[in-house]
Order: sequence, then C-alpha cells, then structure tokens
Amino acid sequence: MISLKFSTLLVLTVLCFSRVSSASSDTFFINCGSPENATVNNRTFVSDSNLGREINVSTGGVSVTTTESNSLPPGTESTLFQTARVFSNESTYRFTINQHGWFLIRLYFQPFASSSPRDLTSARFSVSSQNFTLFRHNKPSTTSVVKEYTLKISATTLSLHFRPETGSFAFVNALEVFKLPENLLPEEAGLISTTTKSLKLSAHAMETVSRINMGNLSVSRGQDKLWRQWDADSTYMGVAHFGFPVVNLKAVNFSAGGNITEDIAPVYVYGTATRLNSDLDPTNNANLTWTFKVDPGFDYFLRFHFCNIIVDPFGIEREISFNIYVNSERVESIDMSAEVANDTFGAPSFVDAVMRKVNKGSLNLSIGGVQNVYPVSFINGFEIMKLSNDKKSLDASDAVLPKGKKSSKPSIGLIAGVSAALCVALVFGVVLLSFCIRRRRRRRQIQTGDEEIKQQNETGESLIFSSSKIGYRYPLALIKEATDDFNESLVIGVGGFGKVYKGVLRDKTEIAVKRAAPKSRQGLAEFKTEIEMLSQFRHRHLVSLIGYCDENSEMIIVYEYMEKGTLKDHLYDSENQRLSWRQRLEICVGAARGLHYLHTGSTRAVIHRDVKSANILLDESFMAKVADFGLSKTGPDLDQTHVSTAVKGSFGYLDPEYLTRQQLTEKSDVYSFGVVMLEVLCGRPVIDPSLPRERVNLIEWAMKLVKKGKMEEIIDPFLDGKVKLEEVKKYCELTEKCLAQDGVERPTMGDLLWNLEFMLQVQAKDEKAAMVDDGPEASVVGSTVQFSVNGMGDIEGVSMSKVFARMVVGEETRERD
Ligand SMILES: *[C@@H]1O[C@H](CO)[C@@H](O)[C@H](O)[C@H]1NC(C)=O
Ligand SMILES: *[C@@H]1O[C@H](CO)[C@@H](O)[C@H](O)[C@H]1NC(C)=O
Ligand SMILES: *[C@@H]1O[C@H](CO)[C@@H](O)[C@H](O)[C@H]1NC(C)=O
Ligand SMILES: *[C@@H]1O[C@H](CO)[C@@H](O)[C@H](O)[C@H]1NC(C)=O
Ligand SMILES: *[C@@H]1O[C@H](CO)[C@@H](O)[C@H](O)[C@H]1NC(C)=O
Ligand SMILES: *[C@@H]1O[C@H](CO)[C@@H](O)[C@H](O)[C@H]1NC(C)=O
Ligand SMILES: *[C@@H]1O[C@H](CO)[C@@H](O)[C@H](O)[C@H]1NC(C)=O
Ligand SMILES: *[C@@H]1O[C@H](CO)[C@@H](O)[C@H](O)[C@H]1NC(C)=O
Ligand SMILES: *[C@@H]1O[C@H](CO)[C@@H](O)[C@H](O)[C@H]1NC(C)=O
Ligand SMILES: *[C@@H]1O[C@H](CO)[C@@H](O)[C@H](O)[C@H]1NC(C)=O
Ligand SMILES: *[C@@H]1O[C@H](CO)[C@@H](O)[C@H](O)[C@H]1NC(C)=O
Repeated sequence: MISLKFSTLLVLTVLCFSRVSSASSDTFFINCGSPENATVNNRTFVSDSNLGREINVSTGGVSVTTTESNSLPPGTESTLFQTARVFSNESTYRFTINQHGWFLIRLYFQPFASSSPRDLTSARFSVSSQNFTLFRHNKPSTTSVVKEYTLKISATTLSLHFRPETGSFAFVNALEVFKLPENLLPEEAGLISTTTKSLKLSAHAMETVSRINMGNLSVSRGQDKLWRQWDADSTYMGVAHFGFPVVNLKAVNFSAGGNITEDIAPVYVYGTATRLNSDLDPTNNANLTWTFKVDPGFDYFLRFHFCNIIVDPFGIEREISFNIYVNSERVESIDMSAEVANDTFGAPSFVDAVMRKVNKGSLNLSIGGVQNVYPVSFINGFEIMKLSNDKKSLDASDAVLPKGKKSSKPSIGLIAGVSAALCVALVFGVVLLSFCIRRRRRRRQIQTGDEEIKQQNETGESLIFSSSKIGYRYPLALIKEATDDFNESLVIGVGGFGKVYKGVLRDKTEIAVKRAAPKSRQGLAEFKTEIEMLSQFRHRHLVSLIGYCDENSEMIIVYEYMEKGTLKDHLYDSENQRLSWRQRLEICVGAARGLHYLHTGSTRAVIHRDVKSANILLDESFMAKVADFGLSKTGPDLDQTHVSTAVKGSFGYLDPEYLTRQQLTEKSDVYSFGVVMLEVLCGRPVIDPSLPRERVNLIEWAMKLVKKGKMEEIIDPFLDGKVKLEEVKKYCELTEKCLAQDGVERPTMGDLLWNLEFMLQVQAKDEKAAMVDDGPEASVVGSTVQFSVNGMGDIEGVSMSKVFARMVVGEETRERD
C-alpha cells in the first residue's frame, strides 16, 4: 500500500545534500531551519539555509525559532532544538551516498510553541525513508525527542520523506545521517527458541527502542563514538530486585575481545554492570529482571553486552555461568569461567538474537537461573531494536497482531446482506486454516531442523572411536614422539591403570599421557568411561582431555599437563614445598567446585567414585582440577546389578554406606571428600602403617581427637600457629559432617562448597587485615586483595559483600579496643 502511494507521489520539494559535512563522506549533520552552524559533541551541524544552491527555501519549508528562553548553553544538544524547518507540503531530503552499508538516521523533534508561522505542537505528519514508514501521523510529544533508525542502503541516494496530514504540517529540528562502521551489525541474527533459524536483518529498517547501560549510570552521546545515548538501567528494574551496580572501567580490555571495538559499545558501557547480589544469600539463584515497554506485533532485534569486570574483594575466583532469558525463553548460556578465566577477564563480548512476534506491550530481560553457590550473574548493556514488519512499517498503527482485531479487514461494503456474512465467515475460515497449516508447517520445519542437529551430534559424540568434539585422536607415532618412546625417565605417575608420562607435542604443548598396562576387560570399560566423561564435562576444575589413542589395542589418554602434580604430593611424603592454609582452602574450594559441577551440571548427576588426594591435580598456580573419571557413574538410573557386584573406589576413602549396602549416591563423593579434607588438615596419609596402632587410620584417630575438642593435636605441624584455632574448629566440624555414617546426614557438595568458600573468605580477610597491620603499602600487594572498584562516583566498594561489611565493622571495633 505504501509503495503504491510512493509510485504516484509528486515530490514537490527536494532538498539535496552532498558532502555537506567536513567529516568523512556519507556523513550529514543538519541544523534545520537555523541560519547558523552549531557544534555539538565535536560535530558541526550545518545550517540548511546556507545551502541555497541545493535548497529552495521558498517551497522547501520555513525556518522557525523558539520564542522561549535563549539562555540555553551553546554547544549542547539543546542548541539543535531551538530552530526547526516547517513543511506544509510533502518534502524530501535526499542524500547522495557513496558507500553502501548500514546507515544511521537520527531525527530531532522539539515541538516548541511558536507564533510565526505556526505552533509546532499542532503538527501532524509521517516520515518515511527508502519506502519504509518510520512513523505515521505523529502527534509530537511535548518534550524533545531524538528518534533513531538504522537502514541498510544499497542505493545511491538516501531519502527522508516528510508528509504532513491534510491541513497540517511537518517539521524537524535537526537530523543526522551517517554510515555505520562495518561489522557493527550482522547481516542476520538467530531466532530465539530455535536453533536453526535466523532472520535477515538487512531486509528491514530498525528503530532503536531502548539502549541501556547496566550499572545504574547513563552514557551520554559525547561519550560514545557513534553519539548513541545509553540510559541507566535502574528505572527498568522492579522495586524489589537483587541487583547492584559494579563499576570497573580499568578492567575493560578491548584487545582481549577479539575484533570488538569501541564502535560496538564504549568502555563506559562495558566497564559498568548490574550484578546479582548473592552475598546475603549464597544460594540466591533468583533472576535479575528488567522490563521494557515495546509495541506489540513486531519482531525485535536484541543485543546483549557482556564484559567480566568483576573482581572479588578477596581475590577469590568465582564461577560465572548463567542464562539469558527474554520473556521466559532462554536465549543463551553465558559461561565465562569454564576454561580460561584469565582470557575472558575484561574481554568485551555480545550476543545477538531476534525475538519474533512479541505480543505483549512489554519485553522482559532476565539473567540467572543456573544452580550455583554464590552465583555470579551480570550484564553490562542491552539494546532493543524494533524491526519493520511485512508492511514495511515501524509504526505501531501498522502492527501485525495475531487474529482478534483484524476481522474488520474484508471490505464488507462491496457485498450486502447474508452473502457478506457468509463471505466473511469463509474468509475468516480460510485465513484460520492457512494460519494453522502454516504454523504446523513451521513447527515441523523447526523440528526437523533440530533432528538434523541431533543426528549430527549423535554420529559425532556417541562413538568414542571416531574423530569428533571428544578430542583429537592421536596417532601412536605422535605419542611415541612426544614421550620419547615411553621413556621411563618421563614417568610422572604410576597407578592401577598403568603409567603416566610427561610429554611434549611438536607445538611445545606439554601433555600428560596415561597409558594402560596390557589391557584387561576392566581397563577398556574404564578407558571408555573416562573419555566419555571428560568429553562431556568441560570445567575449569576438571582436568581436560586433549586426545586419546586406541591404535594397536593401546589405551592411551592425553590430558593437559598439570605442572604441580597431585595434591597428595604436596601434603606429605615428598620434598615439595608445603602448602599454606589459604592454598589448601583454595584447593579444597576448587576441587569441590569441580565435583559440585559433576553432581549438578547436567540433568543426571555424575558420581566420581574415586575422590582422593591423588586424583586432585594442581596446575602451575596451584589451581585444583579433579582427575581420573574411570570409575565415574551417571546418577539416578545406575546399573544396579553392576553396582551390587563390585564395590569400587580407593581403600580408606570409601563411603561406609556404599561398602555395606552398595548404595552409591553423590554423598559417597562427599564422604571421600571429607577424607581428603582430613589429609589436607593433618598432612598425613589416610592409612600409615608405620605409626603406632591407634594412629594408623587417619579417620579414626583424627575424629576421636576432634570429638574431644583437641584439634591442635591433629593439625599438620607445618601449619601450627599459622591458622586460627577457631577456623580449624569450623573446618573440623564440616569434615565431621562429611564423614557421617549416614549419607543423608552429610552435606551436599553445594553446601560444602559454600562453607569452604566462606572459610576462604574469612582467611583472605584475616590475611588482608594482617597486611594492613604491616603498613599501608602492603594492602595493595598483589591482585588478591582489591577492595575498591575503579572509576566513577561513590559506587566504589559497593561490590563488597554485606556479610563482610559486617565483619569489617566487627574488626574495626576490635582494633579500637
Ligand atoms: C557552516 O559550515 C559550512 C560547512 O562547513 C560552511 O561552508 C559555512 O560557511 C558555515 N556557515 C556558517 C554561518 O558558519
Ligand atoms: C573534541 O575535540 C577536541 C579537540 O579536537 C578534543 O580534545 C576532545 O577530546 C574532543 N571531544 C570529544 C568528546 O570527542
Ligand atoms: C524556488 O521555487 C519557486 C517556485 O517554484 C521559484 O519561483 C524560485 O525561483 C525558486 N528559488 C530558488 C532560489 O531556486
Ligand atoms: C502545496 O501543495 C498544494 C497542492 O499540492 C499547492 O496548491 C500549494 O501551492 C503548495 N504549497 C507550497 C508552499 O508549495
Ligand atoms: C520505493 O518503491 C518504488 C515503487 O515500488 C520503487 O520504484 C523505488 O525504487 C523504491 N525505492 C527504494 C529506495 O527502494
Ligand atoms: C569478528 O570476526 C569474525 C571472524 O572474522 C566475524 O565473523 C565477526 O562478524 C566479527 N565480529 C565483529 C564484531 O567484527
Ligand atoms: C541508581 O542511582 C540513583 C541516583 O544516582 C539512586 O537513587 C538509586 O538508588 C540507584 N539505584 C540502584 C539500584 O542502585
Ligand atoms: C589485554 O588483552 C591482551 C590479549 O589477551 C593481553 O595481551 C593484554 O595483556 C591485556 N591487557 C591488560 C591491561 O590486561
Ligand atoms: C514482564 O514482567 C512484568 C512484571 O513482572 C509482567 O507484568 C509482564 O507480563 C511480563 N511480560 C512478559 C511478556 O512476560
Ligand atoms: C529464571 O527465569 C527463567 C525464565 O523465566 C526460569 O525458567 C527460571 O526458573 C528462573 N529462575 C529462577 C531461579 O527463578
Ligand atoms: C591468570 O591470572 C592470575 C591471577 O589473576 C595470574 O597470576 C596469572 O599469571 C594469569 N595467567 C595468565 C596466563 O595470564
């Protein structure tokens, strides 16, 4: 309909611009109706009355100037709103375009009261561009507005067409047209809730609905390279929310974010965030939600900005994984801690998606929803763009709403009486039928799409011995080369399974090569289980699989090399440097995280079954990773017969309930973990036959003394005096709970993790306090203690948890005493 009108349109006024700005070509900033140029945010908005050669002012509208206060400061946006060009007839601004691509159009409107010739508040008009209706029959708001549109231009001109309603007139105060940088917007974007479909954005015009900076701070046009305005998010959050702002501009590192530049969003967007507050409730898995007003009946292009700028005040690393939802549909899972946390710190990133057929007047953005302890979820920025619909319109009056209000469409006037009613019914029926068919067809298409993907996955992942995501299948020759033909001098471990060698690949990657001793049936099963488990679960605290080799009946698994070896080797019976209490707690927290992830990270819990200090490995910075998944089992539907015939695990670590009743649950891992916690505290093996009889069994000996309250007698002599007894006491209480005979009395891995994290925080706090005592300089040593966040205003320190704020208060009082 629109295009028909256009074809018969008589364009009365054509305002032609070419290269009016001194800036790069295809950039036009116009100060409409003003005799003077205006400089705003370092840009010159040129007067359109100076362009006499190109504008015929007598027919091209008249200049009007506000009669209101002229006291507005020059050089600000308000300058642009003081004058306007008024059109009584249809008029077109036409811009000559040299380069094709995405263009931004900004229209400035301020309907000021003016006596001559007309009061702008009574203007009624439509604006279109390239045959897209930008808005229709606009009754201007009483305040100033800047409307923003984005269009893909592949023609040689960009035209802006103003059409007054009969008897009325159109106006504009200022306008901007410029080409956007390449790569700012994609050609197409995926649809939410489908995995296969995407929408071609370039076929649509887009209108900016909301552009939000999280962190309760707005970003002004002057702070953005493309002069975009970013509003603060707090007004879009509900009253009772768990969000709090974080500011850390220094953390933003654009060179770490691939090809993301400040064009995508400025540092002021990536350097601030709103974060879920989990400090008062470490298991607070609530969603953070923002509600935005949108026009129903349109598709929306959404962009979510992320940048991990969160520094824990105590230098404790946190799991960062959460989901993004829009109107309760999951858009994507964000995981910034999975493997290489260092690489994601400060690296800006964004996610694009298209929400189809929004039917309500609101669009809800939520983040959260992954089971976690001390959940960290945050978002830095969010953009909502309305997409033009099939009518090539962005105006709400052209919305395509489902059924309901559309029945007035058939032209009843042509047909009379009963036949009309029949016809309407028929039309309605046909419409309904075709609607149903189309819907069903679409649904089927989506389903088949999914099936295809699933099939791919199945052929890719279900078979161990095919190359796939599982990891690289290494030729034996390459492994021999890496390990110097299994040179005995490179053996770094010997276990029931076989030997572990250190190796170096051609690209200098250090690897650990586990080679099974001459194979047994059992060995093959464990080999398969281990590869399956490791390829299924990728986590920062689970040792990662690099590849495997099954050539010549070999069973070889290649892992990342863990420089510091096993936890066991750092506790006793070795020349290694002893671990500090904080290191020990950090290792416990890391390992607990890995196990917590195994227990809860997928729909079916995975039980490790062989948790022990020799299976907790340490990387070069003593970060713990759980290893050895050969005995792991998937939770609920365990193979009962198998379990009842063979109890597996390591002597000394076995859950008594599992031993006696063959009952294997996640709590069996908790028991074993409790044993590890004792080793960590006492710095001795679980069974030490060289000791006097009553001390041979660590658990019996230690628990007896713990019950008597004699913790100081079991503590590793190395730690003596380096850890507060009250902390040891808490640690022992926790350990005791893990070692409860009855599984149900033991904490879950999540509870355990939370308690350990808390202890770690207390320890970090104590260390910080000790450093402060040593002198003010010491408090900034290292990256481990960073209380303040950098940047603006009084938000500093906000990220510090309330729990610890309370402790700080407590301590200050103590210090004053
Ligand atoms: C406005 O800017 C244009 C282009 O830079 C220039 O040609 C013109 O002389 C300026 N007009 C005034 C009044 O400064
Ligand atoms: C505006 O230009 C001046 C001088 O070229 C420069 O110092 C200033 O940083 C610029 N401001 C912005 C916001 O770009
Ligand atoms: C503007 O248009 C009017 C009427 O079409 C014409 O008479 C006049 O010469 C034009 N002026 C200029 C400067 O082109
Ligand atoms: C506006 O258009 C009408 C009819 O199309 C015409 O009669 C009138 O002269 C035009 N006004 C101006 C100022 O060009
Ligand atoms: C607008 O529509 C008309 C008529 O269909 C067509 O001739 C013209 O090329 C279109 N303009 C653009 C910029 O697509
Ligand atoms: C970054 O580069 C990749 C691959 O070169 C490309 O697919 C992607 O669109 C680029 N993203 C941006 C924002 O430039
Ligand atoms: C956001 O900032 C305003 C003022 O700067 C303040 O009143 C408000 O409480 C803040 N909201 C949040 C959620 O921090
Ligand atoms: C920014 O990231 C790059 C690439 O990851 C890294 O080399 C550089 O050290 C980082 N800069 C800072 C200040 O962290
Ligand atoms: C968004 O949230 C608000 C407030 O909770 C609710 O009233 C509205 O129905 C929600 N909108 C959608 C589309 O779910
Ligand atoms: C968060 O929102 C999503 C989508 O509405 C929902 O599925 C999930 O259960 C919510 N999580 C919590 C903890 O409320
Ligand atoms: C990772 O971060 C830690 C501390 O945050 C630092 O000690 C270590 O050097 C970093 N590693 C790399 C590879 O940047």
